[in-house]
Amino acid sequence: MSYNFRKIVKPLLSWYDKNGRSLPWREEPTPYHVWVSEIMLQQTRVEAVREYYKRFLEALPRVEDLANASEDEILKLWEGLGYYNRVRNMQLAAKTVVKEYDGKIPADYEVLLTLKGIGNYTAGAISSIAYGKQVPAVDGNVLRVMKRLSGSYDDISKDKVKKDMERELREVVPKRAGAFNQAVMDLGAMICIPNGEPLCDKCPLKKFCEARKHGIQNELPIKAKKKPRKIEEKTILILECDGNIAVRKRAAKGLLAGLWEFPSVEGKMSKKELEKVFSEEGWQVEISEMGESIHIFSHIEWHMTGFRVKLKEQIRKEEYTWVSVSELKEKYAIPTAFQAYTKQIL
Ligand code: ADE
Repeated sequence: MSYNFRKIVKPLLSWYDKNGRSLPWREEPTPYHVWVSEIMLQQTRVEAVREYYKRFLEALPRVEDLANASEDEILKLWEGLGYYNRVRNMQLAAKTVVKEYDGKIPADYEVLLTLKGIGNYTAGAISSIAYGKQVPAVDGNVLRVMKRLSGSYDDISKDKVKKDMERELREVVPKRAGAFNQAVMDLGAMICIPNGEPLCDKCPLKKFCEARKHGIQNELPIKAKKKPRKIEEKTILILECDGNIAVRKRAAKGLLAGLWEFPSVEGKMSKKELEKVFSEEGWQVEISEMGESIHIFSHIEWHMTGFRVKLKEQIRKEEYTWVSVSELKEKYAIPTAFQAYTKQIL
């Protein structure tokens, strides 16, 4: 017997009307605002997004501004949020919106899906929140809430489980579609939380919850473990000469594509080994340790050791761009992966 989600709609909406979070993108939910916020909120916490959201819209208030911005500008605005292809894709989609849709972001779910970087979830969110279309917006949080409610042991990492949920919810999304979708998100963030004990006593849907009825709310949802991340050791070099620092642009494809970074070498080197390498090349240097740090990406972990290398003259290598500290701060988007070292120089 499948679970009937229809019964949760009313109590959920009443709860949302009283308890929904006040968030910057809810103040004026234009299609562009909703789009920007939803892209930022993928893989990033609400609290981290607030300030980025404001700054982004101050710099690029309309979809035309995003379409016409330089890549350096959009990357700088995104600096620290991670998953930089999100903003690159959003810009490509903005160009399409300007060229093919006269600057008006489409309302239709299927049309939204044709735009770069917009998948089912984002299409559902824009279409429902900004245009009131009765479509669901299903992400991992929504799946967690729904699988607990229905007491289901389905593996939420499976595509089919997500697709089935979209189909089921499509039947019950009410007229207040945007409110409904956001109510589920808020319930997932405030009550039916991901890590730790859900706050069932406070839940407006406790009467309807199969997981609670059977005492299995902590077991659900089921999510298959991903394979372990690959670990890469790297030695990061902050090459410094007369107040300038060497940076280089990463390859156009792959991890952190096209972003700026500090030079590095594969493997973990000691200060002694590094000194030897530089002296063999005939460079006079003064090396100091900047410590170790780890950055976790979705499929890879970087285990880094950093060194500050003071040079008497700039190493002229085609791949290096020497920039002043203030230029680095204002114009160059250095990914958060290097934060442990960026913090020490900026
Ligand atoms: N997470 C993703 N989208 C959201 C939204 N619109 N409101 C709250 N949390 C969210």
